[in-house]
Amino acid sequence: MKLYIETYGCQMNVNDTEVIFSILAAEGYERTEDISEADVILANTCSVRDNAEQRIHGRIGQFALNKKARPEVLVGIVGCMAERMKENLLESGKVDIVAGPDTYRRLPELIKEASRRPQIDVTLSREETYADIVPVRTDTNGVAAFISIMRGCNNVCSYCVVPYTRGVERSRDARSIVREACDVHSKGYREVTLLGQNVDSYRWSDPVTGEDVNFARLLEMVARVNPDLRVRFATSNPQDISDEVIRTMAAYPNICRHIHLPVQSGSDRILEKMRRRYTAQWYFDRVEYIRSIIPDCGITTDVIAGFCSETEEDHRATLDLFEKVGFDAAYMFQYSERPGTIAARHYPDDVDAATKTRRLNEIIELQNRKSLENYRRDIGKTFEVLVEGPSRRSSEDLCGRTSNNKMCVFADSVHKAGDYVSVEVVDCTSATLLCRVKP
Ligand code: SAH
Ligand code: SF4
Ligand code: F3S
Repeated sequence: MKLYIETYGCQMNVNDTEVIFSILAAEGYERTEDISEADVILANTCSVRDNAEQRIHGRIGQFALNKKARPEVLVGIVGCMAERMKENLLESGKVDIVAGPDTYRRLPELIKEASRRPQIDVTLSREETYADIVPVRTDTNGVAAFISIMRGCNNVCSYCVVPYTRGVERSRDARSIVREACDVHSKGYREVTLLGQNVDSYRWSDPVTGEDVNFARLLEMVARVNPDLRVRFATSNPQDISDEVIRTMAAYPNICRHIHLPVQSGSDRILEKMRRRYTAQWYFDRVEYIRSIIPDCGITTDVIAGFCSETEEDHRATLDLFEKVGFDAAYMFQYSERPGTIAARHYPDDVDAATKTRRLNEIIELQNRKSLENYRRDIGKTFEVLVEGPSRRSSEDLCGRTSNNKMCVFADSVHKAGDYVSVEVVDCTSATLLCRVKP
């Protein structure tokens, strides 16, 4: 049986796809990149914004053509949109399997039964962490691997669907995380990214030693796997990132100097309405503290333009904060109302589409200018880069990231993916450092 999977959404979904491959490979399924030869087509989906779901509806239409050509083909929608839409996804008759993020162990059984009638399992779990499953890495560079350290989320940011699609927060056995890091290192990987919706709330208690492992301690355990293995993590919540985590980063050179710290808004009134538990000043003070301990730390963010009741004044507060912080990069979104969330139930989505777009564009424009200024300051500096492979634009160039997560491109015919290379920055764009290899 041949299995084809498309992945949408965040890095956790990328890692979940690897878990799914692992579960189905154990049952004899073979992976294919060619959808036309697949016996089972799965889409691992995202619900975070409406446009993410619209894309999947489009794909379901496309998959139906594959079914038409070969009626025995089974189509499964798994992940966050499966969890959110449940049996509604079966109504079109184009979907055979609906499986939520905590039911992947049942996929072999669901697929088997689906040839008789459509199958659905959207049970959320309080325990499932897939700790014992060794993901089959699907990324092609063989250098950087994702490791999920927890699942679910216990925050209820009012705009966000994730707590509903992923369930309650659970931390994975720290020993299995360290084992997985050792395993990928022995296979040649040189970077791991520890994933969770709110990594600072990681908590696990060792049943043997009784030790309580928090995120700072986990970071340290993974950093000690090998000095040659870089460690990244995401996502940190501004209200929860601890001084201990920041000091642990400073103590281990192989913990990358980069924190993704989503701010969402620069207006205290909007932050409160979003149920984020910090103010703009508090956020700024965290950034200052990080920079005082780790001066070269890369800081990136997420922001939402046009949340319910956002005024021009609120929007200007966001622009001001962006101006003041000077992020290295940002993921910038327009607010998209998600059914069932606190915001959808209590606050009208009252910023009109044109205003949302204009505000988003103003943020993007400001951030592009800030990114360029920020990258320009690196010209003349030397960085150690972990080579990821050939650059996208030219096969004669290699690309790789600095510790603080900036993409570097440089001409190099000597090194290969997985090597550490010392480079000097000669020029830049707002998203790439153009470098030359140091002799
Ligand atoms: N756990 C992470 C975020 C996960 S979702 C955190 O707390 O930071 C990734 C990003 O999507 C969020 O940071 C937010 O900026 C954006 N997002 C979430 N819900 C959204 C919505 N309804 N509309 C627009 N953007 C949204
Ligand atoms: Fe969503 Fe907030 Fe949880 Fe992040 S912390 S996943 S934004 S509810
Ligand atoms: Fe990730 Fe999208 Fe789900 S961002 S957690 S795949 S809703």
